[in-house]
Amino acid sequence: MKKLKVGVIGCGRVGSLLERDPLRHKPCSHAGAFAACPDTEVTCACDIDPDKLKQFREDWGVERLYLDYRELLAKERPQIISVASWTSTHKDIVVEAANCGVKVILCEKPISLSLARADVMIQECRNNKVALLVNHERRWDQRFLAAKQLIDDGEIGTLRSIRGAMLCGIPETASWKSDLSLVGGGPLLHDGTHLFDMIRFFGGEVKSIVGFVHPNERLRIEDWATAILQLENGVQAYVEVGGQRSYFHFAIEFWGANGKIAIGNGINDLFVSQESKSFYGFRELAPREFPLPESHKSSYLAIAEDIVRLKRGSCENRSSGEDARGALEIIWGIYESERLSNSIVTLPLTRREVSPLMSILKRKSQKQAPRADRD
Ligand SMILES: NC(=O)c1ccc[n+]([C@@H]2O[C@H](COP(=O)([O-])OP(=O)(O)OC[C@H]3O[C@@H](n4cnc5c(N)ncnc54)[C@H](O)[C@@H]3O)[C@@H](O)[C@H]2O)c1
Repeated sequence: MKKLKVGVIGCGRVGSLLERDPLRHKPCSHAGAFAACPDTEVTCACDIDPDKLKQFREDWGVERLYLDYRELLAKERPQIISVASWTSTHKDIVVEAANCGVKVILCEKPISLSLARADVMIQECRNNKVALLVNHERRWDQRFLAAKQLIDDGEIGTLRSIRGAMLCGIPETASWKSDLSLVGGGPLLHDGTHLFDMIRFFGGEVKSIVGFVHPNERLRIEDWATAILQLENGVQAYVEVGGQRSYFHFAIEFWGANGKIAIGNGINDLFVSQESKSFYGFRELAPREFPLPESHKSSYLAIAEDIVRLKRGSCENRSSGEDARGALEIIWGIYESERLSNSIVTLPLTRREVSPLMSILKRKSQKQAPRADRD
C-alpha cells in the first residue's frame, strides 16, 4: 500500500528537534514518529524560521520546504498534517488544513488560546470530515494505559479521589512561552493541559471547580495554581501546577476504596489494602508489582500508527479536539474561580472568548500601579 503523505508545520522542538536529544526514547517528535511509521512518509515541512527549515532538511532529508503553511497546503496536498507550531497559530493552521483536503490533523496541545477558537477548529474539522487529534501523548503511553486497565479491572476498588501534580519552573523571558499572546497562559495551560486531560481520561467529566492562581510579578502569566475539582461521578481531584520548582515532575495518584495507583515521570506504583502487620484489626496499603509492559514502545510511534488506522477507518479517535477542549475548559474554570475570588465555578463555562487570566493580570497590575495611574 502507498505511504500516506505527511506535512509538518512547525519544525522546532516537538515538531523535529527533540529527536536530537540523546536521552529521550525515540521517536519523540512529530517528524520522528511519521518517519518511523512504515505507512507514512514526511514529504514536506513549513516554518517561519529559515534556520529551522535548514535543520529539518539536515535531519530528515526533506527538500519540499515552505515559509508559509498556506503555500504548503495548496501545493503539496498532504493527507496528514502535523501542527507543531506555537499555540497561538493552531487555530488558523487547523482551519486552513481542514479546508484544503487534509484527512487527519495531529495538533499540538494545548488545543488553542481560547474555548471560542477551539470550537471553530472542532467545527471546521467536523464540516470537512477531517479527524482532529490533539497530542496529549499520555493517552498512548503504555504505562498510563496499564494503570487505566488496573483501575478498570477493579484492582484498587471504586475510584474515590485523584491527586495530580505538574510541577515546574517558569519560562525564561527570551522564550516564546513567556509571551502571553503566543502561549495563552503559564504552566497551568502549557503543561497542565496534560494533567487535566489525564484526569478526564481516567475519571470522566468535571462538574465544578475551586481554583487558586498566583500571577507572576515579572512575567504576565501565572507561576502556580492549585485547585479542587468535583467530577460528575463524585470523585474529587486535588491538583497543584507550576510552583517555581527547579525540576519538572508529573505525577497522578488514583486513590480507590481498596488501593492506590501512582503513575508519572519515573513512577509506576500499585498498592492494595491488606491486614496491617503493625496494628491489630487495621488494614493498610501494601505494595504490589505494577504490570509494566514487556517492551517500551514510543507513544509518538503509537500515535502515528493510530493515525494510519484512523485514516483507513479502522479505529476510533483516542484524543479528539473535543477531549482537548475539555482539558482547556477545566483550566479556564480554574482561572475563572480565581477571578471570582475563589468561588465555586460550574461547567460548562459561558465565557469562551477572552481568558479569565487576562482579568486576573489586569487586576494585579491595577493594584500595583501608583495611585495617580489608576482610574
Ligand atoms: N505534547 C508535548 O508534550 C509537547 C512538547 C513540547 C511542545 N508542545 C507544544 O508544541 C507547540 C510547539 O512547541 P515547541 O516547544 O516545539 O516550540 P518551538 O518554538 O521549539 O517550535 C515551534 C516552531 O513553530 C514555528 N512557527 C511559529 N509560527 C509558525 C507558523 N505560523 N507557521 C509555521 N511555523 C511556525 C516557530 O518558528 C518554531 O520553530 C506548542 O503548542 C507546545 O505547547 C507539546
